[in-house]
Amino acid sequence: MYKLYCRIYQGVMKIGMYLLPWSMPEVIEGEGSIKKLPKLIKEKGFKKVLIVTDKTLVSLHLLNSLFESLKNVGIAYVVFDGVDPNPTDLNVEEGVKIYKDSSCDAMIAFGGGSPMDCAKGIGARIARPKKSIAKLQGLFKVLKRIPTIFTVPTTAGTGSETTIAAVITEAKTHHKASINDLSLMPKYAVLDPELTLGLPPKTTATTGMDALAHAVEAYTNNTYNSKLEKDLSKKATKLIYDNLLKVYENPKDIEGRQNLQRAAFYAGRAFTRGSVGYVHAIGHTLGGLYGTPHGLAMSILLPHVMRAFGEKAYDRLSELCDVCGITPKGNTKKAKAEAFIEWIEDLKVKMGIPLYPEYKEEDIDQIVEWAYKEGNPLYPTPVTWTREDFKKFILSLR
Ligand SMILES: NC(=O)c1ccc[n+]([C@@H]2O[C@H](COP(=O)([O-])OP(=O)(O)OC[C@H]3O[C@@H](n4cnc5c(N)ncnc54)[C@H](O)[C@@H]3O)[C@@H](O)[C@H]2O)c1
Ligand SMILES: [Fe+2]
Repeated sequence: MYKLYCRIYQGVMKIGMYLLPWSMPEVIEGEGSIKKLPKLIKEKGFKKVLIVTDKTLVSLHLLNSLFESLKNVGIAYVVFDGVDPNPTDLNVEEGVKIYKDSSCDAMIAFGGGSPMDCAKGIGARIARPKKSIAKLQGLFKVLKRIPTIFTVPTTAGTGSETTIAAVITEAKTHHKASINDLSLMPKYAVLDPELTLGLPPKTTATTGMDALAHAVEAYTNNTYNSKLEKDLSKKATKLIYDNLLKVYENPKDIEGRQNLQRAAFYAGRAFTRGSVGYVHAIGHTLGGLYGTPHGLAMSILLPHVMRAFGEKAYDRLSELCDVCGITPKGNTKKAKAEAFIEWIEDLKVKMGIPLYPEYKEEDIDQIVEWAYKEGNPLYPTPVTWTREDFKKFILSLR
């Protein structure tokens, strides 16, 4: 009965998805493209921007050329570099205060998913000053224009530069959840592969696996996708298949870096309508409870969840096997799906990613509860899991 309720909910959502005005950011891409951003900001009439970033990126001097070109065109800026990995509501509030105190009129979100999501959270709180982050989490609770955000992703990655989501952790409870609202879709994205050249191999690996998780979850999901999202998922999967290990082994491969940035962008756009699934539902709980980096949680969980779906995911996984050109051990859908999962597992081993997640025994019920609530009824996964299914799955991860 419960599973039927989930399917009906998802059927109604599917109709809603066709009625929504989906958009995509305007993209500036290519080596050194960050230098073009200040001119664009000036053309759009903005005078003072808040740059939302983190301390690591500032200490790596990754923003220097941006600072210089902003000065050259006469755009004033203030830097907020207090974003934590897995950003919190406290980070957001700090950013809101600086934005208001400094009378900024737009934002540049410079960094991985954490600074981009924090900037979106700041925007949401500026648009809705009376609603806390906890009240804004969920579906379509902002419903108001937020200040313009120019996104500059430095991981490849979350795809936050082209999603309607901002994932924020409540500092008090460690509950990590998403604000999803069309107003959070960024208007502009700069995909400059030079900015990702210094990513440590481990981060390259795990953030690339996050993009893969977006593509695979969106593709294996049942209902919300249109043809565009399915095509983007396939394109992203193939780009990751061709480039992730190559770039992990040769971090200065700029063409490979650019391909990964495109993959992250495509996968982001695919899942923002097609939705993620239980890999994310469980992964978010690990990020909230233990600070597990998001990409690491995704890399660990992705093959386990896909295998646990069993035959219901064979069709779609076998198609992805064909898209990548992986040679299966037989010609059945089952064999192809298994070959695709084995490729992910092999990639994990080659990139030094652990097989299983770390979690505390006493937290299992909390993990189950949060994952179940995040996943159901919203995520149109190939199989709907009950609380017992989630628990059985989590206990199998050892
Ligand atoms: N909004 C969305 O649609 C969406 C989608 C997926 C994930 N997320 C969220 O995004 C967050 C994770 O983002 P992330 O995986 O990009 O990691 P991150 O932004 O937390 O960055 C991870 C680390 O890498 C460093 N780093 C980033 N770019 C670098 C570079 N070019 N060189 C060297 N170091 C660099 C950062 O300083 C940080 O220490 C999580 O909170 C996750 O839940 C959001
Ligand atoms: Fe993700």
